[in-house]
Amino acid sequence: MEAWPEDWLRLNAVCPYYTMFPLDFPLRQMAVYPEAKSVLDPFCGRGTTLFAARLAGRSAVGIDLNPVASAIARAKLTRVGPAPVVRLTRKLIKEYGCAPAPAGDFWNWAFHSRTLREIAALRTGLLDRQDTPTSVMLRALILGILHGPRNKGLPSYLSNQMPRTYASKPAYAVRFWRERDLRPVFVDPVQVITRRAERMLRGLPPRTAGEVLTGDAASTVARLKRRFDLVVTSPPYYGMRTYVPDQWLRNWFLGGPPNVPYGTAGQLATQRNQAAFVSAMAEVWRAVASRCSPGAHLVIRFGALPSVGVSPEKMLLASLREAKAGWLVRDVCPAGSASGPRRQAEQFNGKHQTMGVAVDEIDVTAELLRRRG
Ligand SMILES: C[S@@+](CC[C@H](N)C(=O)[O-])C[C@H]1O[C@@H](n2cnc3c(N)ncnc32)[C@H](O)[C@@H]1O
Repeated sequence: MEAWPEDWLRLNAVCPYYTMFPLDFPLRQMAVYPEAKSVLDPFCGRGTTLFAARLAGRSAVGIDLNPVASAIARAKLTRVGPAPVVRLTRKLIKEYGCAPAPAGDFWNWAFHSRTLREIAALRTGLLDRQDTPTSVMLRALILGILHGPRNKGLPSYLSNQMPRTYASKPAYAVRFWRERDLRPVFVDPVQVITRRAERMLRGLPPRTAGEVLTGDAASTVARLKRRFDLVVTSPPYYGMRTYVPDQWLRNWFLGGPPNVPYGTAGQLATQRNQAAFVSAMAEVWRAVASRCSPGAHLVIRFGALPSVGVSPEKMLLASLREAKAGWLVRDVCPAGSASGPRRQAEQFNGKHQTMGVAVDEIDVTAELLRRRG
């Protein structure tokens, strides 16, 4: 596979996200389908497919229901240097210094009061203005540093001790800090953002055309005007219901409530049973087919948590059949065997309730029949 300057790849790690693809996987698909110029990911998560498309010089559209995902994914299509990002940070902290910050036990323990005031200023300032490439990038950078472990040297995260992949639930987190008497220390957002921006944004790949939409995959795809010739995607893993509640702190930063949103309306994972989940996936493959050129390829990585005891392969193939949209399955193989050594599930971190378990994952490739009927 083509080698890119190391600097160019850093942006892909701007913020972690559950069941994100290893970048190798969509990059490999770009190499397998060099003729594909227009790429779609209807469950784009943090935008790994879009970033791979950008590296390969293709245009890309991504869709995700979770605003945290789409905020990160948007940055993957953006090109802006560190200086404007740092300037905007300083400006927002100055202009919105009086923005209200959430109060209560969790917030008192999670952040030093001054750090929290400055985060609240950045939050309000970003919510208050029209998006520009600079604000899109700053938002994604802040999502990536909002919470994480306390390190020994210069701080990399704004919070008290926390995981970086997901936000702890408030009651658990407060107990954890209190028992260890772990008081939050002042972390200067300008300094952390400056270090991050300088590291991640010094070298970036050229921009390619594309956009990220926040919404339901099936209905949003159906409204798209353009045509695609390659779709690389990964629907929510069956049994994995925590995409939204686990990202509650990042969701707050984007304008959400200052508590854990347990209702995850529209998320595919909330379907009441396997058959309903299969039908919901089928609807997406149908909508995708309606926006694809004949001969287009659809590459899907899908998995299921072992606790739910189902075969992801059977479910996915059933959904493609149910779609009746002309998708002809060309290849089914265990995840990773076609795309390099890393499985998506290996990025799961043993510290998470539902993670650290071997997730059954497969890769399926289908081709859209040239004559649909
Ligand atoms: C397996 S993750 C995708 C990860 C992605 N490949 C990446 O590299 O980050 C599945 C995504 O589907 C999104 N999702 C769930 N239900 C959806 C729906 N009805 N419409 C659009 N996106 C949805 C979830 O928010 C989640 O981000």
